[in-house]
Order: sequence, then C-alpha cells, then structure tokens
Amino acid sequence: MSEPTFRTPKGTHDVLPEDHQYMTYIKKAVRHRARQAGYKRIDTPMFEDKGIFERGIGEHTDIVEKELFTVTGKRDGEGKERTYALRPEFTAGICRSYIEHGMQLLPQPVELYAIGQCFRYDRPQKGRYRQFHQFDFEVIGLKDPSLDAQLISMTCNIFKDLKILPRLNLQINNIGSQENRQAYVTALKDFFIGKERHLPEQDRERLKLNPLRLLDSKEEDTRILLKSAPTFSQFLSDESKQYHATLLEYLDALNVTYVPNEQLVRGLDYYTQTVFEFWDQSTGAQNAVGGGGRYDGLMELLGGKPTPGVGFAGGIERTIWHMKEAGVQVPNKDQVDVFVAQLGPEAKKACLQLVAELRDKGVHTVGALGEASLKSQMRLADKFEARYTLLLGKLEVKENTIILRDMKAGKQKQIAFKDAIPQVVDLLGKENLDTYVLRDHIGGETDED
Ligand code: HAM
Repeated sequence: MSEPTFRTPKGTHDVLPEDHQYMTYIKKAVRHRARQAGYKRIDTPMFEDKGIFERGIGEHTDIVEKELFTVTGKRDGEGKERTYALRPEFTAGICRSYIEHGMQLLPQPVELYAIGQCFRYDRPQKGRYRQFHQFDFEVIGLKDPSLDAQLISMTCNIFKDLKILPRLNLQINNIGSQENRQAYVTALKDFFIGKERHLPEQDRERLKLNPLRLLDSKEEDTRILLKSAPTFSQFLSDESKQYHATLLEYLDALNVTYVPNEQLVRGLDYYTQTVFEFWDQSTGAQNAVGGGGRYDGLMELLGGKPTPGVGFAGGIERTIWHMKEAGVQVPNKDQVDVFVAQLGPEAKKACLQLVAELRDKGVHTVGALGEASLKSQMRLADKFEARYTLLLGKLEVKENTIILRDMKAGKQKQIAFKDAIPQVVDLLGKENLDTYVLRDHIGGETDED
C-alpha cells in the first residue's frame, strides 16, 4: 500500500468501528449508572473563552501553561480579538453553564454528567493523546461527605460493570480548605529557602509559581528533599480532618476499597478537600484511568456565588485499553445477519424490497448491491461474515421462490419467496432482532450518542 497523502494529526486517532463497540458499551454503563443516581446529561461547547480555563484550572498548571489548544476568533466590531481554547476537561465549562443558566435556583445538588472529546496539547505518548474522550460527573450546590462517597461509589460501580475494577487502585486524600492550602504553601516555600539550588530547574520554577506541584515531582533530588519537608496533614484543619474521616467511614459502609495517599494533590488548581484518582495497579500514578475531587472555590473564580461542588472524570481511551488488557469482550452489535444476493434486473428489484423489509424487522441486512455474478456475491457474503444468505436468481423469480443458505453449516434450501422473512426471523430468534422502541417518546432526540 502506498503512503497516504494525509494522516490524522499527531496525538489524535480515528475511532474505528472495533473501538466504537467498546465506546458504546462504556457510554451505556455510564448512562445507566448516572441515571440511576439522578444525574442529567449536559453538553457544553467544545471551545470556551480561554479565561474560563485559566481562572478555573489555574494559570500555572501544566494543562493551562503548556497544553491548551487555543483558537483565535475573528476580530469583533471594536477590532478586539477573542481567544478561545478547546476544552481540556468538562468541569470549568459545566460550572460556567451552571452560573449562566441560574442553576442555583434548581433543587440542589444539581447532578450533571457529560461524555465527549477533550483536547490537551500534550506530548503524545502511550495513553496520552491530544484529543481524547472523557466521561464526567459533577455534583454542584451542596457540600457533604455523603455526596463525595456516593460519587466515588458510583464510579467504582462503573469500573466494576466494565470488569476492570480489580486492575485499579483507588487513591484518596484530603488537601484541606483554601486557607489550609495557603498555609501549607507558605510553609513549603519557607522550607525550600536556601535549598533552591538543589532543585532541578523545572522544580525551581514550580516552587516559584505553584509549589504544591512539587509534591508530585518525579525528580529524585526533589523527592529526597521532600522527605524532610512539612507534610500536608500538619496543616489540615480539624474540620478538614473530620470531613475526610467521615468520608472514609461512608466509603467503608459502601464497601469501597481505597488507599489513603497523603502525596496525592492532582494537577488542577481548583481542588479543595477531597481528591481521588484511579491508578493502574501496575504503573501507579502514570496514566490514571480517572480522577476527581471537590472544588468548593471554583464557582467564585468563574464569577458565580460561592457554591460547593464535587466531580470526577474518567478517560475513555484508557478505560478501553484496560478492558482489552483484561480480555473483556463487548458484544458485537454490528454483525451482518443476512446477505441478499440477486441476479438480473427483476430479482434486484424484488430484493431491494426484501432488504428494506428485513431491516425494518430488525434484521441486519446487506445486499442487492451490484451486478456481480452470484458466485462472487457469495464470496462477498462470506467476507461480511453473514450468518445467512438469501439468493434470488432468474429462475427463482419465475418460480416465486428464493434460496436460503446457512453460511456456517454450508446448507441451503429452496423456499417460497413469501416465507423468506418469517423463516429468517425464526432462525435468528425474535429476541435477537435489532428493533427499538422510543418508549414514552415525546419529542427531541434520543440520547444514544
Ligand atoms: P484529569 O485527571 O485531568 O481530571 O483527567 C481525567 C482523566 O482523563 C484522566 O484520569 C485520564 O484518564 C483522562 N485523560 C486526561 N488527559 C488525557 C490525555 N492527554 N490523553 C488521554 N486521556 C487523558 C479532570 O479532567 C477533571 N476535570 C476531573 C474532575 C471532574 N474533577 C472534578 N470534576
């Protein structure tokens, strides 16, 4: 094969039909668990004012500093140019939406979930892409450890449904209130006075701009220094400690297994109190499958009233990777049940109707395609892995019959043309037909996407 002229941009990939089977399956699990817990689906634009992410996620986080995909709009009437950014995550956009649509007037908490693409201009590597998919949950408007516990338990259930929970480790920590964090940052800065030159350059920069990020530094020298640095727990208020203890109690009551991890801070600035991540049992912090936490100060940063929130996002690509590694097979819903082969203009016309009727009955049907010989149509039926083939040649048209061939058994029989559909339906089994009912359908679209 010659080199294609165009390829997908670096860090992006086509979601080919095979992976879509996984994606559909994951979305289904997410939708079910979300609905069971009273969440409603939301979609926010794929791009937003860049300021939303700068203010929300934090100017000195990797995501904003290095990974924002910016998009420049046209100049407005006053000659000003607006800078947008493709969403690197859902949380900030959903909070913007909560404020914009006055959702504080709804019964609280408002529980929302979203599924879709996110963009981070990261250096592509295994499990790290420039365009990827997240499923995201946000619980906004009320603060109570029982909400954090319910959210965490629901995400565990999703990973359990997808059969990858045993491969994951739930890491959990409490990083205190904004005041606790501030006090800790000051202490951390004080600790490093005079020790800066022992830090690698990048960490020296972090110390200046966002000292908390030193805690998840992978640099050996930094890690050694951190061993004698003050720890977060020393700065947690009694209230934060109590909050965390209650949360852990609730998780125990819900039979959620977790690993307390005092080093866990997460890479986004908006977190306060609870933070958690699902790590791969074998690689640890690298390529977490999902993460989340509480963000009680975010709404104010975005111009809203003080409103607490807690949320989580899982990475769909990483989830699929784990499912494949674990040998989890998802049902193939794209199988071809029947291939309809025909010869001659009369047969082709009759088959076109037959194909349409079969499809309407819920039988996955391909056929009545070109002008090829019956033999090559049969070869095609084989390649499509059709379970049955219906053959209509010139003779059968005259006799008002059709040939029904079981492709696996390699057996065929001639039947009356009018019996073709009932016989196929019988063979496949009514329960396997792909029919759908729009139950209680009032209007609008289905949410199967
Ligand atoms: P996050 O930890 O930045 O959190 O991302 C959540 C998940 O998205 C990650 O655990 C990973 O599975 C996936 N992910 C992130 N970046 C990439 C990438 N470059 N390629 C592939 N997958 C990736 C958030 O986004 C927060 N908004 C979560 C949250 C919701 N916190 C509160 N509410």
